[in-house]
Amino acid sequence: MTRPLLARAVDTAMDRSLVLGYTTIGLAVRRALPGWPSDPPAGVLEGRHVLVTGASSGLGVATVEGVAALGATVHMLVRDEAKGAKVADSIRATRPGVELRLWRCDVADLDDVRRFAGEFGAAVDDLHAVVHNAGLMPPTRTESPQGLELSMAVHLVGPVVMTEALRGPLTGGRVVFVSSGGMYGQPLRADDPGYTTGDYAPATSYARSKRWQVEMAPLLGERWAADRITVATMHPGWADTPGVQESLPRFRAITRPVLRDDAQGADTSVWLSAVEPAPSTGKFWHDRAERPTSLLPTTRPSDETRARAWAWLRGAADLP
Ligand SMILES: NC(=O)c1ccc[n+]([C@@H]2O[C@H](COP(=O)([O-])OP(=O)(O)OC[C@H]3O[C@@H](n4cnc5c(N)ncnc54)[C@H](OP(=O)(O)O)[C@@H]3O)[C@@H](O)[C@H]2O)c1
Repeated sequence: MTRPLLARAVDTAMDRSLVLGYTTIGLAVRRALPGWPSDPPAGVLEGRHVLVTGASSGLGVATVEGVAALGATVHMLVRDEAKGAKVADSIRATRPGVELRLWRCDVADLDDVRRFAGEFGAAVDDLHAVVHNAGLMPPTRTESPQGLELSMAVHLVGPVVMTEALRGPLTGGRVVFVSSGGMYGQPLRADDPGYTTGDYAPATSYARSKRWQVEMAPLLGERWAADRITVATMHPGWADTPGVQESLPRFRAITRPVLRDDAQGADTSVWLSAVEPAPSTGKFWHDRAERPTSLLPTTRPSDETRARAWAWLRGAADLP
């Protein structure tokens, strides 16, 4: 995946400018630059099973459509079955022949995650990939049924518990965490994973949990390497989804003309799920390229901070 020097320079400049790189313009320019990784071949996921969480809205729907278009049987994990069934019907109406199955689970509730994983594992013995896409930005500090701060439960602990419970079917497979470019602005708060100190700000809480995903990915990759499971984190740029419309109306009003559509936002998740060979484990991706995990020295955690965070995650997810 080597790219000509000038193409790399343009790509990097757009990445650091955020505004350019994260928009639909960024994706269009990168696609046109030499060295853009080719699309996975048609049918590459035929006979394979892919699980997508948060499959009832925005990027989740586009991810389902993207991997289904490559031939996968797609397992749509939703928390609202009626909403999920409508989405599945509308995908089937536009893409006859797609194989979709619906599963209900609240990713914030670790008991429900374990229940789901047990049922899923009994039904599907070979899972090619799981895309942990479910996400939210709680407007006020909220706790999950197990007392975890909600962003941390949905973006990190629930997905880790789910993956750990699905290690059998996932052997040789891939895990993709949908993170956010917002994490660049936050350090790894191993000292306060529950956001119990300071004034709660929804965007900060959200971005902190997305930082955790990125910093824990290499350690999760090491843990699951024994089962040849690879881990990737990615960020989609800025896409005009129901989530953004609801949680960030002012941001959306300003950026709307250049926001990506759902398929553009989901492009790298689909690519990571399908490209052969699987990208090396533990890395952070955007627009089909590996990206730095910190742009500021102040957000780069020390080994000690990362070790403290890992110890917390192991406890929260009850990892042996
Ligand atoms: N859009 C962007 O520009 C952008 C940028 C950076 C990162 N992201 C990330 O991309 C992912 C998708 O976001 P989106 O923009 O497509 O948002 P969205 O339209 O709000 O979709 C979020 C999905 O997550 C589901 N979800 C939320 N909490 C859940 C829970 N406890 N259990 C199960 N499912 C749950 C939602 O279910 P319901 O349909 O029932 O609400 C919905 O299907 C998120 O992780 C988000 O952080 C998005």
